[in-house]
Amino acid sequence: MASRLHAHIGTFRQLEILLAVYDGGSVKAASEALFLTQPTVSMQLKKLSEAIGLPLYQQVGRRLHFTDAGLATIKTARQILNSCEELDMHLSNLRGLKSGTLRLACATTAKYFIPHLLGPFCERYPGIDIQFTVANRQQVIERMEQGLDDFYVFSHLPQGLGLEVIEFLSNDLVAIAHADHPLTQQHSVSLEEFCQHDFLIREKGSGTRFATEAFFQEKGITPNVKMTIASNEAIIHCVLSRLGVSILSAHTLAFGEIYGVKVINVDALPIQTKWSFSWLQGKALSPLAQEFLEYVETEGRQMMKQALHTMQPN
Ligand code: PGA
Repeated sequence: MASRLHAHIGTFRQLEILLAVYDGGSVKAASEALFLTQPTVSMQLKKLSEAIGLPLYQQVGRRLHFTDAGLATIKTARQILNSCEELDMHLSNLRGLKSGTLRLACATTAKYFIPHLLGPFCERYPGIDIQFTVANRQQVIERMEQGLDDFYVFSHLPQGLGLEVIEFLSNDLVAIAHADHPLTQQHSVSLEEFCQHDFLIREKGSGTRFATEAFFQEKGITPNVKMTIASNEAIIHCVLSRLGVSILSAHTLAFGEIYGVKVINVDALPIQTKWSFSWLQGKALSPLAQEFLEYVETEGRQMMKQALHTMQPN
């Protein structure tokens, strides 16, 4: 395709020479502007005219008169050169991290703190775009298998995917109930007693559910599951509606007191897990992704801790 095009409209360099001749008004001016000899400029114009199959200009005295074919070629040549200049600028912006897209996928429960990581980074690089996908743990793993994003945030890493990993925040899963629930009055609650109450559980594929099921299995206890709910917020509202108790990440409760949900002091809880910030070993990181990684490693952890701290109810 490229060589067929060359055969009909000449090379990029020939178009550049034609433009210089048009803008300078003579072969001599073009040769000076492009640091070429006059015979070279004339030769390239001749080749261009042969490729196009039409004359590009006529010399009348000392002046050049461009034909319709010449003017049409000049118009397109200018568009091509402008586009190339734009591309060049865009690429140098990318090299200077002034633009580009950072793709990040995180488990739903991580959405409570990841924005606090993104905020200061975007302030530093206002021209960048962020594609921020929030899905449950299983869906994030599927995105990871397809290599759709630069970074992934969730807990309980899958085996065999070849990952680079930074563990960066603890994720405590706590037992919760309506603030008026009798269990909230008790100093400590046994796991057996907790499990007698209607239990609200996250959907299959959720990391919260994964950890909760593993915990109950290890303890040899089966919760009294009343509802499966694919959202932390919906679980909180169901707890508020006295539909049951649940186990959720403490991150979801940053404003728990306002909502009237309380953490219950159940034996053996919280379930302690960790958030992983990971990326695929084989995937080349863009300059922007590399910059973000460095930012996460040097400042990110502290920033998120602070953000979570300031969100805690008094
Ligand atoms: P979830 O993820 O929002 O899917 O429950 C949390 C996690 O990965 O632990």
